[in-house]
This record gives sequence, structure tokens and C-alpha cells, in this order.
Amino acid sequence: MKRRITRRRFFSQSFGLGAGALLFKELPAFDGGLGGQVPLIITSHTNATGKKAMVAGWEVIAGGGRAVDAVEKAANIIEEDPNDMSVGYGGFPNEDGVVQLDASIMDGKTYNAGAVACLENIKNPCSVARIVMERTDHVLMVGRDALAFAKKWGFTEEDLLTEKTREAYLRRKENLSDRDDWGPPEHLKDLPEFQQRQRRDELDDDPHGTTNVLAVDRNGDVAGITTTSGLGFKIAGRVGDSPIIGAGLYVDNEVGAAGATGRGEDVIKSCASFYMVLRMKEGRTPQQACEDALRMIAEKYKKVNPDFLPGEQFVAINTKGELGACRTTGNRPGRISVQNASGYSIYTGSIAFPTEE
Ligand code: GLY
Repeated sequence: MKRRITRRRFFSQSFGLGAGALLFKELPAFDGGLGGQVPLIITSHTNATGKKAMVAGWEVIAGGGRAVDAVEKAANIIEEDPNDMSVGYGGFPNEDGVVQLDASIMDGKTYNAGAVACLENIKNPCSVARIVMERTDHVLMVGRDALAFAKKWGFTEEDLLTEKTREAYLRRKENLSDRDDWGPPEHLKDLPEFQQRQRRDELDDDPHGTTNVLAVDRNGDVAGITTTSGLGFKIAGRVGDSPIIGAGLYVDNEVGAAGATGRGEDVIKSCASFYMVLRMKEGRTPQQACEDALRMIAEKYKKVNPDFLPGEQFVAINTKGELGACRTTGNRPGRISVQNASGYSIYTGSIAFPTEE
């Protein structure tokens, strides 16, 4: 979601990108809070489904299972939630009313990765990504060929639209233009009983959505998944950052893992997840790495349009179990669900450029 802040406010906020860019004040430090314990599993989903996913993923890890199995089990639960309009079944469709899913998985132990993009009719795209990772010599498969591949492996096709997302799609079509024939007939459209149109700002309420699931298992191996229905009402065929290794997800078994949600175009251009893992390798904490990456992106835009700030949330963990979560702007800090031997909790990180909304 795009947000705007004034030029004055933007310049008064921090860009702590290292010694060369310290025109701005540093953000306050955030302690590791609930972190510092391995094994662990985290997700960017902090709702009830996120908690359910963490409990399921933790069962795998607590039983001595692999991080890659734990993240898949947890991500499947989020993908299957019909009420989540950002991921998997029930995700927002594209502008043609078709749900097109993107997902990636990376296994630090084997330095292996798999992904699918524009996948239709399969509710667990991250599991197809896993087959791409483990049963082919490729990393990314797309569109109808990815669907055909999934079917060969026994995945069954189903309609991913729910009544809620179908309704949202139809309302959006009716609202988009008064110069086409969507909506009630001309002679009836002003009558109250025909005015069912949703307000545009309701429809546009954060249509970006995605989930990241990252884990370190008992052996110290790291794995991650990013899965999404992408930008709501996107142009058909648009691919976001989620299936792009290094953008929406990156894992390094020696360092940790990072994932992104939000406006995928910014995340692709900045290779943000790779950048976060690189920063952690250089000694930054996961929290600092998330903040560094968001400031790096803001710095790029500042040179082009000082009033523009993109909307993302970045999350990261390292092999010590330390945590990071940061949002670009707004008044809600980055947050993640965390499950480790101490139980389930929500970790609150930071906002890179707070606003007073
Ligand atoms: N971050 C998800 C997307 O932009 O598709």
C-alpha cells in the first residue's frame, strides 16, 4: 500500500544505512525480546490462523523434524484459510477474476530452492514449489505449465474464489468506471435498492498480502516459505516478489532467513531478502537488517520522489533465534508470530518511518 508523508517529515526521519548516509537520526534499538532461542518457527501472520500454523509447524520441529517440513506444514494452514484474502484459497483474484498464486520455498541445508508463479486452481502453491525444488533441476515454474506439472504430481484443481472474494471482484468491477456496462441499468442505478456498491477505499484496503514462514530446526538447519495471492486485482500475469528467490525470500544455513510482504515491485528491484541476509552475515541483528533494507529502498525512492514511501513489512531470523520485523511506515510496527520452546508469542519490531495516522 502506498502511503505519503510530507517532504519535511520524510527528511527528518532516519536513514541509518551506515556511516556514509547518517544525515538522519538512528531509530531506537529494539531488544531481541522473545528471540534468542533455537529451534523456532515464525510467521508474519499474527492472527488466529498464524497461531494455528505455528502450533502445527512447532509439532514437526519439537519432534525432531526438519525445518523445511515445518514451514510447509505451517504455510499450508495459512494457504487453506478461506477468510484470508491474501494467500492461497480465498485470496483476491486478478483483474479478470482469476486467482493466480505465487510461492517460493528455500532449504538452507541443501542450498536448494523452488518456486511457482501465476499458478491457478491449486490451493497449496508452496507445496508445488517444494516439488519443483526437490524433484526437478529447476527453480521456478509458471502459469499453465506449472499447473500441468502440479497435476502430474497429483495436485487436484479447485476453484480458489470464495463467495467473499467473488463479491469483492464484482463490486470492484462495478466501481471501476461509470463508462462501461458493469453495474445496474442506467435508469435504475440511482435508486437506493440498486446501490450496493462498496466504497472504493474499502476495496483498496491493503490489497497486498502475503505470508512468510521461517524456521530453524534442532539440527540448526534453516528453511523458509513465502506464499501469496499477490496484489489484489493485479493485471493478469503479474508476478510479485514472493516467488523470486532473493526478493520475497532468502535462506542461508550459516546466517538465517528473511522474507518480505507488501509491494512486491519494490522488493524485486531491491533484492530485499538477499540484502537482509547479507546484512545479518555482516553482523547486523535481524531487527537491524529489516530496518536497513527498508531504508535502503526508501533511499532509492528519495532521489526520484522525496514524497513517496512504499509499503512493506520485512521479517528475519538468524541461526541464534534472534528476531526482526519492520514496516516501512504507518502507525503499526512490524510484528511476527513466534513459536519456540517457551511457547507462542507475538514479537513487536519497529516502523522505519512512523506517521501520525
Ligand atoms: N508481496 C506480494 C506481492 O507483491 O505480490
